[in-house]
Amino acid sequence: MCTKDKAWQTQLLTDKYLDGVRGAIPLASEQLDIMLTAISMNGKVDNFLDLGCGSGILSAAILDRFPDAVGTLVDFSEPMLNAAQDHLSGYNKHLQLYKADLASASWLDLVRDRAPFDVIVSGYAIHHLTDNRKRELYEEIHGHLTVGGIFINVEHVSSSTPWVESLFERTFVDGLHSRERNKGGSRTREALAKEYYHREDKKENILASVENQCQWLGEIGYEDVDCYFKILELAVFGGRKKTAN
Ligand SMILES: C[S@@+](CC[C@H](N)C(=O)[O-])C[C@H]1O[C@@H](n2cnc3c(N)ncnc32)[C@H](O)[C@@H]1O
Repeated sequence: MCTKDKAWQTQLLTDKYLDGVRGAIPLASEQLDIMLTAISMNGKVDNFLDLGCGSGILSAAILDRFPDAVGTLVDFSEPMLNAAQDHLSGYNKHLQLYKADLASASWLDLVRDRAPFDVIVSGYAIHHLTDNRKRELYEEIHGHLTVGGIFINVEHVSSSTPWVESLFERTFVDGLHSRERNKGGSRTREALAKEYYHREDKKENILASVENQCQWLGEIGYEDVDCYFKILELAVFGGRKKTAN
């Protein structure tokens, strides 16, 4: 591992996430269903953007529903972009993947020609940015949506209290354990819990409450802002760019 790499830019964490953690996310398919229902209800999807795309799970869900949509995917991890390339190879030819760091506004230079987007999504990525940067990014997203376009963030958010955080962690480890058993694996719940509590990427989480983040969206000028779905620390929230003032 190159020392300047963040955990998410390594092959090791990419494999761990894609082989185990992603599949153990509680109610993950319900989260995608809500995302797709909101997107479908909002109108046409000609041109979408997926920020922190990973292997392209959100993009694939959009393309399954809207096969002719043009997709732009951004991530700063080479292994993740390679996984997305493989995962999305059966989809249309209108996909473009970009390597860019969302920690500064320079990512916009790469995608500006493909904007505006009628849908912008992000899955479990923006919580790696500082709160100031999250808010700036929500402004940048707003600025690159079509009028009436929609932003949906499927995101890891903070718990209201340490007790609720423990409840989330316990629920998550239960999910990892049941996935292990379903795969015929032999790792114990205790071993999975130990690995989960000491996971390398935990230090890269900067969790913010869904309430604060929805407030920022409202202040920026999004409408119909809400948390559309939530189980403990996993939330689906967003808003639409106003059609008229
Ligand atoms: C937990 S994974 C989620 C991947 C995918 N969106 C999903 O829903 O499964 C987080 C992703 O965000 C990317 N990421 C984290 N920080 C980033 C940054 N500063 N700029 C761009 N991508 C970033 C990681 O490389 C990783 O692919």
